[in-house]
Amino acid sequence: MGEVLGIGCTHYPSLLRGSQAYTGTTRFLLNNPVVSDKMRDISNWPEGAQAEWANQEEDSKLHELRMIEAFRKLRKVIDDFNPDAVLIWGDDQYENFQEDLVPPLVIHCDDEFNGVEPMTSAPKNPWGEPVDKTWNWKGHQDLAKDIATQLMERDFPVSYSLKPAHAKHGMAHAFANTLLYLDWDRKGWDYPTIPFSVNALGRNFEVSQQGFGHLKPELAGSDINLVQSPPGPSPRSLYRLGKLIREIVEERPERVVLMASSSWSHSFLTQKNEWLFPDRETDQIHFNQLKNGQQHLWADVTNLEAEQAGGHEWKNWVALAGAMEGQTPTIVEYVESWVFNSDKCFCYFEPAGVAAAT
Ligand SMILES: [Fe+2]
Repeated sequence: MGEVLGIGCTHYPSLLRGSQAYTGTTRFLLNNPVVSDKMRDISNWPEGAQAEWANQEEDSKLHELRMIEAFRKLRKVIDDFNPDAVLIWGDDQYENFQEDLVPPLVIHCDDEFNGVEPMTSAPKNPWGEPVDKTWNWKGHQDLAKDIATQLMERDFPVSYSLKPAHAKHGMAHAFANTLLYLDWDRKGWDYPTIPFSVNALGRNFEVSQQGFGHLKPELAGSDINLVQSPPGPSPRSLYRLGKLIREIVEERPERVVLMASSSWSHSFLTQKNEWLFPDRETDQIHFNQLKNGQQHLWADVTNLEAEQAGGHEWKNWVALAGAMEGQTPTIVEYVESWVFNSDKCFCYFEPAGVAAAT
């Protein structure tokens, strides 16, 4: 009878590139006419944003240290649990999901993920690793296929894959970054891993592509809302997905980590803040709900509300919320920001599977 450990974390790509990279998007936007003249003038920013911009060197270093320590703590929690498999809900940003096929959700049933090359865009990574360094990680085909099978049989149709489609580096960023960060001290990652891709870009899919397509300077003044793709899965469906996977895993013998990986509101997806700042208010509401064990409320958020709050990727966490219904997490860290692109939450839910209760 299975046992489940819940984990929430980020896969913040800039962490690969060093803290000097954290303001990269903001610097790009300060010279970009997609942002109004008024908001390109820093003196018109909220006080907190001005302060963080002024102290960016020191603050970004602290932001980095807090994330690294949080990853180390989560790694210890995972090692103590000693799982047979780790399933991660993460977003696909025009990696495996491209114009020829855009599924809402895909469970990756690969036996192994070989030759993963996540450092190609990170020549100044914190480990000093060469850009062409590759990693080999194990999948868990038997468990992944059974989860896909059981979801179908429980009236939740889901797509599956047996090998990467387009992902250039063998595994999408949401998963590869997460594993690299959970292995911050480079002792290796041997836990069989099941990536579960979520179509996070939703209505932004065609215009945003890798995430920044809607910020091309030539698009200044155009209404990106006119270029709408069908949405990604709704929070309510993700909540149900998480709940079903918990049920399926607890019927099997393994010890399994169910993990959501994503920063919460993203500045470059938050139109109401002219792409400059994340929706800190909405994140704060979600954080208060989470720390009080009220994450069931997230199922009531609509796709549109999530997207208006720049929470396209936060939806990965709604699947975790469904899996952890009724449990209150231990918060490891909550790192807010203005100009470093996103707020990041780190938490875990004590194992409480059938085996744990007996
Ligand atoms: Fe992402």
